Amino acid sequence: MESQSINIPKVYIETYGCQMNVNDSEVIFSILAQHGYARTESMDEADVIMANTCSVRDNAEQRIWGRIEQFNLQRRNRTVIIGILGCMAERLKDKLLETGKVDIVAGPDAYRSLPELLAAAGDGHPQINVMLSREETYADIKPVRTDRNGVSAFISIMRGCNNVCSYCVVPYTRGAERSRDAHTIVREACDCFNAGYKEVTLLGQNVDSYHWKTETEDVNFANLLEMVAQISPELRVRFSTSNPQDFSDEVIEVMAKYENICKHIHFPVQSGSNRMLEKMRRRYTREWYLERVAKIRSIIPDCGLTTDVIAGFCSETEEDHKDTLSLFDEVGFDTAFMFYYSERPGTIAARNYPDDVDIETKTRRLNEIIALQGRKSMESYQRDLGKRFRVLVEGPSKKNQEELCGRASNNKMCVWPDTEHKAGDYVDVEVLNCTSATLICKLV
Ligand code: SAH
Ligand code: SF4
Ligand code: F3S
Repeated sequence: MESQSINIPKVYIETYGCQMNVNDSEVIFSILAQHGYARTESMDEADVIMANTCSVRDNAEQRIWGRIEQFNLQRRNRTVIIGILGCMAERLKDKLLETGKVDIVAGPDAYRSLPELLAAAGDGHPQINVMLSREETYADIKPVRTDRNGVSAFISIMRGCNNVCSYCVVPYTRGAERSRDAHTIVREACDCFNAGYKEVTLLGQNVDSYHWKTETEDVNFANLLEMVAQISPELRVRFSTSNPQDFSDEVIEVMAKYENICKHIHFPVQSGSNRMLEKMRRRYTREWYLERVAKIRSIIPDCGLTTDVIAGFCSETEEDHKDTLSLFDEVGFDTAFMFYYSERPGTIAARNYPDDVDIETKTRRLNEIIALQGRKSMESYQRDLGKRFRVLVEGPSKKNQEELCGRASNNKMCVWPDTEHKAGDYVDVEVLNCTSATLICKLV
């Protein structure tokens, strides 16, 4: 018999942007695996090189233009298909193909068509699919987990966004909001638990507006959270992102009821000024936000709270900026993701408001927020000195192989000397010391 050499094409994907993109890349690997492609972590041996991209700020896109050049260097001595996926693909569409440096452009709802696009692009014809869908949730696809520790998995519970925050490109790149079948979410979480995972994070741009309805069932986010929490007390549940406008008491109550629902809320405020919030089209006020924080803390006193903020949005005055500083001072977040405003073409803000805060002022205001938050983080971590936490071990700490690291329920990273335990164990620790980003602990 004649021997045949079977050549399995290898796919390499770089992922940028939010956790939802990480999960999307896992869905993509799954779709491609079903069509005979193998995953590789080395660009040098890949037949297909792709970037799953982000458009949320201009610098996120600039990075990708640089990567496209790097990918093309791989073509010097072999044939490689280059693909741009995700939000930047959706935003720039054929502009990416016009460079002549990209063979495939596929938006966030087009991943099922990747096998066809790849087959056709292989014949030297660039391919594009940037159709957005009202239904696609990839509900039936079991993602190929690409995390390294096998402890913590991400599960998308919805796609798209129905808000129109004026600065934000996401509704344009991800399309309308749709919620995924609740049973497929619970099944995926069960599969993760059975495969040894100890933590799942439920993902959506606005998880509190999750709503899945059939003739016989009606599941909101609080219900879904409870369904996932009931899988096992040994499975931790986290979620992100909570939009203050939709954050309900029902969710706080479910969080309080289940020990395994982690006591941490990522609660993006964006600005402390009502004038800016209105212009941003966030549908809450500073007072509403502070009331939600007070309510959370009255029911879950030790709840971890983190946020996102944008400095220097259109027409922001010194007064508006001071409102942001005073809100940060008042709330005392554990950590914050802090950005200065980056105008995104096509958004409501780009079409209606001049990007009129100069870069020096944006940078200065951002630095003031960062400096204040640095002190607030330190205070927040110091408040945990002497406390005991149950921590889920993620693996060795970055700095020291004799130390393990893992998160407390409130999402703070803990490190402690330990040669007995391993990733996936639960251990009890006591906080001895801290930095503004780590709790330094001992086993108890
Ligand atoms: N859905 C989430 C946010 C997703 S985008 C929410 O509503 O909170 C993540 C963060 O990027 C946002 O919270 C915001 O702080 C930041 N961001 C979004 N658009 C931006 C822009 N044009 N310039 C600067 N930061 C931006
Ligand atoms: Fe963007 Fe607002 Fe939707 Fe968040 S809620 S993704 S900030 S439009
Ligand atoms: Fe970026 Fe798209 Fe996520 S713009 S933040 S990758 S939804």
